[in-house]
Amino acid sequence: MSLILSFESSCDDTSVAILNTDYEVLVNLISSQPEHLAFGGVLPELASRLHMKNIMHMTQIALQKADTSLSDIDAIAVSINPGLIGSLIVGLAFAKALAWSLQKPLITVNHLLSHIFANYIDHPDLKPPFLALVVSGGHTELVDFQTDTKFEIVGKTLDDAAGETFDKAAKLLGLGFPGGPIIDSLGSGGDAKFVDLPNPLPQKDNYNFSYSGLKTAIRTYIMAQSPEHLQEHQADIAASIQAAIIRPLISKTIRKARQLHYQQILIAGGVAANSALRVEMQRQAEQYDIKVYFPSLKLCMDNAAMVAAAAIPKFKAGLFADLAVNANSIKGTKLL
Ligand code: KG4
Ligand code: ZN
Repeated sequence: MSLILSFESSCDDTSVAILNTDYEVLVNLISSQPEHLAFGGVLPELASRLHMKNIMHMTQIALQKADTSLSDIDAIAVSINPGLIGSLIVGLAFAKALAWSLQKPLITVNHLLSHIFANYIDHPDLKPPFLALVVSGGHTELVDFQTDTKFEIVGKTLDDAAGETFDKAAKLLGLGFPGGPIIDSLGSGGDAKFVDLPNPLPQKDNYNFSYSGLKTAIRTYIMAQSPEHLQEHQADIAASIQAAIIRPLISKTIRKARQLHYQQILIAGGVAANSALRVEMQRQAEQYDIKVYFPSLKLCMDNAAMVAAAAIPKFKAGLFADLAVNANSIKGTKLL
């Protein structure tokens, strides 16, 4: 069995992991950057600097915790897009330097794809075909997986992402950042029918998403209410916003899976941590005998274990990167 040392630095989490090629996690260290909280969002330059500060030390600790050394590592994996370009470059430069000095293969992966492969860590028996819904801070995509390396995007957001909508709504309500987990916990006791919000692109044969109109509707509603009303009905408003965001995710994913005659749906990305999305997707899919998989909460967030997980099929197929490879921040429509 081989060992993969992996890095994730696409946004504001520095993460270093070591996995064996059976998807077993030896170590998965994540250093989130609370320094951004004061700014209500991620500051790209600050993120890059913190990745630089953390990555070497975290690698040393990861090797110690896994009770291994660099000479036992068989490949180096790193995410190279999409993401903040400066942040990606820190991880890639470090990974390249290690690969070159150890004379071991470098494997580059797409960050969104790695979110999907996080499911393989928790469900090692999982096999395609399946339909994957990737929902993160910047992306909302439906991906049809025929095999581990043959897949196609069959739906995507036409404008804003689901995670972004959670974050924007929480900001407008003065609840902090990131908004998803806050709205999730606030909304769990609320009445999801309290605010009537739009359901974009409802046509049965449309598998794309759109969140810009919903974002505007949320903003218009919040601006029209008194601070007392917003305070008194916080849980109901959070529940209504959450329901409006997850409704198209659930209906379109299940409809597409049925159209493809697939019996398996995967959810991935930060928004896959949403408790209502997990429960409702499962409840509705069950009616059609479709099984729903999602990663454990820790693996929904950005982490390097998922990067290694996405690198494993590439390692087995010998799909290695040239050391001249560059990072890029192209929005995720093209998965690698
Ligand atoms: O995948 P991720 O960690 O980073 C990106 O690659 O973007 O996703 C972050 C997004 C944020 O928008 C955050 O608000 C959302 O995931 N998120 C959630 C929950 N936990 C994180 N959204 C809804 N419910 C949650 N429990
Ligand atoms: Zn992510």
